[in-house]
Amino acid sequence: MSKGMHISLRVWRQSGPEAAGDLVNYEMDDVSPDSSFLEMIDLLNERLEKKGEEPIAFDHDCREGICGMCSMFINGQPHGPERGTTACQLHMRSFEDGAVIVVEPWRARAFPIIKDLVTDRSSFDRIIESGGFISVKTGNAPDANAMPIPKADAEKAFDAAACIGCGACVAACKNASAMLFLSAKVSHLGLLPQGKVEGDRRVLNMLEAHDREGFGACTNTGACEAECPKEISVENIARLNRHWLKANLLSD
Ligand code: SF4
Ligand code: FES
Repeated sequence: MSKGMHISLRVWRQSGPEAAGDLVNYEMDDVSPDSSFLEMIDLLNERLEKKGEEPIAFDHDCREGICGMCSMFINGQPHGPERGTTACQLHMRSFEDGAVIVVEPWRARAFPIIKDLVTDRSSFDRIIESGGFISVKTGNAPDANAMPIPKADAEKAFDAAACIGCGACVAACKNASAMLFLSAKVSHLGLLPQGKVEGDRRVLNMLEAHDREGFGACTNTGACEAECPKEISVENIARLNRHWLKANLLSD
């Protein structure tokens, strides 16, 4: 007798970057409602391997909402139906017994599909390389602690630093804009005194890299904030736009 849930999965299978992909049906029995979404895919992969079939390729690392690797659409929503939750923190009890669940990779020109659910998100790394760092001498931890920082700024910087670089904001955006990601990185550095020195250059260089990588323009739909598993606020985008205006005027 079946004890767990029955799930009908429709998973995007694509053997390589240039191959045509398609949704493939898998019927899953005995799925524990307490298993995580990724554990459910592990179980499916075990069953596929036992039958001599190719397991589903998907990205994952920490499985605790920290690394940002577990990027996938679940029923059309980045990271699935729970707000503020990564796919690895999602549990099967969030779905009805007998549910049909469609799983797909991120869809964006700047995130090409490598295989199945795995996309190449190195465009984010290149945006960070263009300015998402502090290269001035900042001293050691005690020096940082000795520097007075307004509480409101410290809190905003801390909230922005929660961005895990998962790309859900891009996937959710009809323009495939990465402005929420970019603005979070700019805020978490630029709101602190150590990050202000290179602030203008950082904003200009990171925005240039954003456009070069093929991300779209922000049209303020707010879809990014709604789907961000770390609930990064679009206030960061407004702050970035103000900073860009100032930096652009000064650079002329
Ligand atoms: S802003 Fe949110 S959705 Fe975008 S990369 Fe960062 S954590 Fe992911
Ligand atoms: S596997 Fe690290 S955030 Fe999901």
